[in-house]
Amino acid sequence: MESTKSLSSELTKVTREVASYKIELDQTRKYLHCVLQNSTDIIFMTEITGLLVSFSKGAEKALGYAMEEVIGRPVKDLSEDAESFEALMVKSRLKGNVSAPEIHFRHKDGTRVHCHISLMELINREDNRVGTIGVCQDITRWKKLQEDLVQIDRLAEMGRIASGVAHEINNPLAIINEASGWAEEVITDAKGLNPDDREELKETVRKINLQTRRCRNITHKLLDFVRDSAPTRAEFDIHSLLKDTVDLLRPELKHTAIEVEFAFSQESLPITSDPRLLEQVFVNLVTNAIHAVLENGKGNGHIKIQTIRTDSGVDVSIEDNGGGIPEEARASIFTLFYTTKPPGKGTGLGLSICRNIVKNLGGELSYQSKIGAGTTFTISIPTPK
Ligand SMILES: Nc1ncnc2c1ncn2[C@@H]1O[C@H](COP(=O)(O)OP(=O)(O)OP(=O)(O)O)[C@@H](O)[C@H]1O
Ligand SMILES: [Mg+2]
Repeated sequence: MESTKSLSSELTKVTREVASYKIELDQTRKYLHCVLQNSTDIIFMTEITGLLVSFSKGAEKALGYAMEEVIGRPVKDLSEDAESFEALMVKSRLKGNVSAPEIHFRHKDGTRVHCHISLMELINREDNRVGTIGVCQDITRWKKLQEDLVQIDRLAEMGRIASGVAHEINNPLAIINEASGWAEEVITDAKGLNPDDREELKETVRKINLQTRRCRNITHKLLDFVRDSAPTRAEFDIHSLLKDTVDLLRPELKHTAIEVEFAFSQESLPITSDPRLLEQVFVNLVTNAIHAVLENGKGNGHIKIQTIRTDSGVDVSIEDNGGGIPEEARASIFTLFYTTKPPGKGTGLGLSICRNIVKNLGGELSYQSKIGAGTTFTISIPTPK
């Protein structure tokens, strides 16, 4: 009787313990499930030979594969360099765990995924190795940011060097310019020169003059680009500024058959911005439009300058019926010194300067282009309410 009692109490104790283990196991399972479902890290598990047996939701998202596509495959096949990955797995097996600051996986779409990786060995109760667990953080965005920062730093350094050189070259250029003007006067007044020699000398001096102006043009543009002058603010009528800009370019337009059309909004558009900087942008864009139309060689050159009031300010668009910007050039047109124009015609600084200015004014510069039909650049200028 006594022994039945003690047996029954023992059974109750064991049943309670089993129930408690079951709860614990259930909680651990839920905990794991929650981590595997919600973590943005790549978490995987392999069996002893390195074949995948588990693949987290974060891994599916980061690498583009559904779990069913990779289960049973060697995990090393997902990496860019299977041999180095296998070496890391071997190291983990020997040491129990290992980590590497950067390895590369290959996304299903072929792109590289940079990851920080930790590998841990999974050991059973009998102290036998049964597999490997991997936890990897996708650091691709961070890497890209780091590369961008290095690139920005490099550009800033180049800007500093370029502005230094431009500044230094300006003085000798001014002297050459002055000297060539003086030389032209001497040649004109010189006695005893035969007309052919005089003309030849004058032509040479004119060439010196022209090329000096070209160099000064480049150095001034470079200095404009690098100078970080804060924009001034004034209220002015955008339509008057656009008309003044086209007047400024009349000499360029004079010997062409290009018609400039103003398609201004009915209402006057007073805005508060920096008129001097905006004029620089308009001059650059209208000059580009003139060149595009001329290069296209069409008889009916047309440039349309349009203004529209928007919720945030004013949009000014400059549309030409030139040849359009070829697909392969589109990634480069805002790059410093990118030009398709012959030497003397373009320096490849105009659009970079425009974009810089518009950005400093808090606006946006965008464009649309169709081969054979033309290009429209749009400047969105915000105005304070
Ligand atoms: N309206 C346009 N139509 C077609 N191509 C254009 C147009 N505007 C710019 N481009 C292309 O973009 C390039 C870069 O323009 P950007 O204004 O920066 O330099 P650029 O005009 O060549 O020289 P510059 O420094 O004298 O302005 C041009 O050489 C041209 O190939
Ligand atoms: Mg230009």
